[in-house]
Amino acid sequence: MDKFPTSIVKLIEALAQKKNYKPFEIVKIVKEANVTPKDLKHWSDFNHPQTDSYGRKLVHKAPNFEIMVMSWLPGDISAIHDHGFATWGAVQVFGENEHAIFKVEEGKITTLSRSNFKYGQIVGVEHNLVHQMGNMTNENILTLHIYGLEETKGSVTGDANLYDIENNKIQIINGGVFYNLPTEEIAEIVNGPKADFPTRLRDIVELGNRLARINPEDNRLEAIKNKIQSAEYCQLFNSYLSTVVDYDDVIINITQWKILMKEIEAANQFLEIDNLFELFQQSVFCELMELE
Ligand SMILES: [Fe+2]
Repeated sequence: MDKFPTSIVKLIEALAQKKNYKPFEIVKIVKEANVTPKDLKHWSDFNHPQTDSYGRKLVHKAPNFEIMVMSWLPGDISAIHDHGFATWGAVQVFGENEHAIFKVEEGKITTLSRSNFKYGQIVGVEHNLVHQMGNMTNENILTLHIYGLEETKGSVTGDANLYDIENNKIQIINGGVFYNLPTEEIAEIVNGPKADFPTRLRDIVELGNRLARINPEDNRLEAIKNKIQSAEYCQLFNSYLSTVVDYDDVIINITQWKILMKEIEAANQFLEIDNLFELFQQSVFCELMELE
C-alpha cells in the first residue's frame, strides 16, 4: 500500500472497519481522511478519450467497496445514472461541479434540483440516488468517489442504470456512465421512465454538446437542433409551462420554474440563440406544424 498517500491509506483502513454505512457516517470518514487533490494526482485522467464523457480511474478495490477518481475537463458530464449494486458511498468534489438529482417514480423521471457543489464538499450516496455530475467551469476538476455494499460482489457499481431519456429506456451498464455509449458497452436495454420537459430538454442538449465535442461536423447535431425546435418540443414545453405558471402568468412552482429556466439557458447556449423560451411560449414551432 506504500504507493498510496497517507490520506488514502487512512480512508481505506477506516472503510474496512464495517460492511455497511449510513450516508452521514461515510461523509465523516471522508472528511477525517482529509484527502487533497494533490493526493489524487496519480489517478488523474484529463487525457481520457473524448468519447468518454469524463476520466475514470480505480484507486482501490476492496471486497465490498471501491475508491475511484474521476477527472472532469470543462464540459465533461455524466449521463443520468444510479450506482448499480452499491448501497452506500460518498463523493468529494475538488471544484464547483454541477450536480443534478432526479426522482424516478411511477414511470416518470423529473429533475428535483440542479446546483453547484462547493470546493471540497462531500455528499453521501444512497442506493436510490439517481443523479448527474458535470463540469461547467473553465477549470479541470478531480472528484473522489467511494461506493460500497454490504455483501461482496464482483463489481460494486456493476448493473448500473443509465437513463436514456430521449427514448424512455434504461441502459444497464458495468462501466462509466457516459453519454452516447457504444452498443458493446451496454449489457441490456429495458423500458425506462418518461421524463418531464426540463429533464428531456437538458438531456438532449448534453447529448448534442457531447457529440459536438467529439466531432463538430457530426451530422446528428443538425437533427438534435431541429428536434429541440420542433412542434413536439414546443408542445411539451407549453404543456409543462401550464403546470409551472397559472393563467395570469404567476409562477406557481418556483423550484420547477428555476429548473426550467436553467435548462432553457443551456439549450440557448447549445443552439447559439437567446430566445428559446419566447419562441416556445409564442408557439412558433407549434404553429409551424399546424401549417404543414
Ligand atoms: Fe454517480
